[in-house]
Amino acid sequence: MNLILLGPPGAGKGTQAVLLSGALKIPHISTGDIFRSNIKQQTELGKKVSDILASGGLVPDDLTCEIVKDRLQQDDCRNGFIMDGFPRTLPQAEMFEEMLKARNQKIDTVINITVDDDVIVKRMSGRRMCSCGKVYHITGNPPKQEGICDACGSALYIRDDDREETVLRRLKTYHDQTSPLIDFYSKRGLIIEVDGDKDIESTFRDIMAALGRQPDGV
Ligand code: AP5
Ligand code: MG
Ligand code: ZN
Repeated sequence: MNLILLGPPGAGKGTQAVLLSGALKIPHISTGDIFRSNIKQQTELGKKVSDILASGGLVPDDLTCEIVKDRLQQDDCRNGFIMDGFPRTLPQAEMFEEMLKARNQKIDTVINITVDDDVIVKRMSGRRMCSCGKVYHITGNPPKQEGICDACGSALYIRDDDREETVLRRLKTYHDQTSPLIDFYSKRGLIIEVDGDKDIESTFRDIMAALGRQPDGV
């Protein structure tokens, strides 16, 4: 199954992608996670994108699409993927369509997770991240041991772009450049809308139900 998770920053894309990846046995591909891991390792790519992420703007379309194209070549993508945070502009969506066409693939479903801006700003201030991809919240979804990832034992960290003023810039970027994708994918009949302002498990159940799958163990 080829899925895209669409939604504003803080909608819960990363949180749901980890759950979906476990349930559907397909990889979770987050362009944001790829950029952050390159910044941490100080690669050439990391140096190019570090200021962009810190400011809440978007990495250029060509560069982002190159990275996704490379990632899709890896073996684990042969049965599908969950795209989290890509595509994010109309040119990216068009390039992605071409990329998939060349691989004889197509998008099956785009899950649009909706959450109001004021809820988002509150969520971001409590977010804690792990480099393994798991996402926590200090009150809403805390780890068993403070500051430590349940899944891999690594120390959790706070994202540089989770300061309130940067969150507001990211929301503006979303409304200006990413929200037109809702219309783009609606016209193709691919959108499923899910309310992201419920708790994490309910949202996950709603997504699985919309995909016609039975969530077990959650
Ligand atoms: P990216 O990493 O994709 O960030 P984002 O889209 O801003 O989204 P977030 O990761 O902030 O939020 P999320 O929806 O994953 O929410 P989460 O599950 O963490 O991108 C970062 C940057 O990289 C961009 O700004 C850009 O510069 C660059 N970039 C990335 N992709 C790009 C592209 N395609 N093109 C160009 N540039 C690109 O949840 C948030 C918090 O809420 C957590 O604390 C979580 O525990 C909590 N939470 C989740 N669900 C719930 C719930 N139901 N109830 C209560 N709390 C919840
Ligand atoms: Mg995320
Ligand atoms: Zn971890």
